[in-house]
Amino acid sequence: MSDLKNIKNYNYGLEKIFEEAQDFLPIMGTDYVEYYVGNAKQAAHFYKTALGFQSFAYAGLETGVKDRTSYVVAQDKIKLIFTTPMPGSGSSEIYDHITKHGDGVKVIALWVEDAKKSWEETTKRGAKSYFEPKTEKDKDGEVVLAGIHTYGDTVHIFVERKNYEGVFLPGYEKWESHYNPTDCGLKFIDHMVGNVDWGQMNVWGKFYKDVMGFAQLISFDDKDISTEFTALMSKVMTNGNGRIKFPINEPAKGKKKSQIEEYIDFYKGAGVQHIAVATDDIVFTVSEMAKRGVEFLYVPGEYYDTVGDRVGEIAEDMKILKKHGIMVDRDDEGYLLQIFTKPLTDRPTLFFEIIQRKGAQSFGKGNFRALFESIEAEQERRGTL
Ligand code: FE2
Repeated sequence: MSDLKNIKNYNYGLEKIFEEAQDFLPIMGTDYVEYYVGNAKQAAHFYKTALGFQSFAYAGLETGVKDRTSYVVAQDKIKLIFTTPMPGSGSSEIYDHITKHGDGVKVIALWVEDAKKSWEETTKRGAKSYFEPKTEKDKDGEVVLAGIHTYGDTVHIFVERKNYEGVFLPGYEKWESHYNPTDCGLKFIDHMVGNVDWGQMNVWGKFYKDVMGFAQLISFDDKDISTEFTALMSKVMTNGNGRIKFPINEPAKGKKKSQIEEYIDFYKGAGVQHIAVATDDIVFTVSEMAKRGVEFLYVPGEYYDTVGDRVGEIAEDMKILKKHGIMVDRDDEGYLLQIFTKPLTDRPTLFFEIIQRKGAQSFGKGNFRALFESIEAEQERRGTL
């Protein structure tokens, strides 16, 4: 019943929630996500080949950047940067990040109207500065950038690009490639989830509320999100226009090891757990990605015996959803279709979620049990349960 209550409050209160989020930090959307990786060239190739991203921009020795190499890939509104350190000064932070965390997300960049004001308003409210506002220029104009720390070694960079006409950012040039695999229908980032350590969910929920002006959309306790063996807790924070949604997870006690604890053990601390990307046609997206080598979490066949009773009429053919392992959930406003990849990195840390919303604004709570049993089966195979 608590789910129903949550969802009801959530629907009645949606406008109130967005109002409650304060407007000292207007965010237009996610600007980009930057990974620190061991081999940017190969990572970019994988995201192009397997997930349908396109070559977009490049920075490195040829563009006058000496301490790192960065490849930017794009798909519709999504931009990902893969950055690898180069020998020399200035790159030790990147080396350290990779040594500690393996490949992972360093930067969740937010597109703002005024980067200096965003930095001032958030640092005034207690954010730790990552770097002060700075203006970077080239022949195509200027951008203003500023950064603050969030959970673990992850940071937010505010990007103000209203006076910039270049391909991406100063220091980057267009990445032309003769290898251009077709896209997989990914549109934009729906939400990005952070895993934090024991007892830290409320600390970081409060950070997004007090420092960033976000409001709490919904919360799940360990009774909502548990199987017989493992559990977690989660709180979803949103900004005022709903374009930025950050669920924050922490482990909860169960008979066996929480998947969040496994993440923390392997990532060596808090960090980004998954990036959920929206598609208009999940069957197309998932068939394309599977064909190109992406592995998805297995959903037990029995899931589909009862899902129809739970979600009612849907436009899609359940047999096709079953074939691909796509899950369905419904709330008061509609339904959603979702599927999760296995980790995309060697460590069992970062993964992608593919989500198609058909009215529903929630996060697939009805699928948690099936999903967790599937994750537990993977943990069992890794010997980390
Ligand atoms: Fe998600």
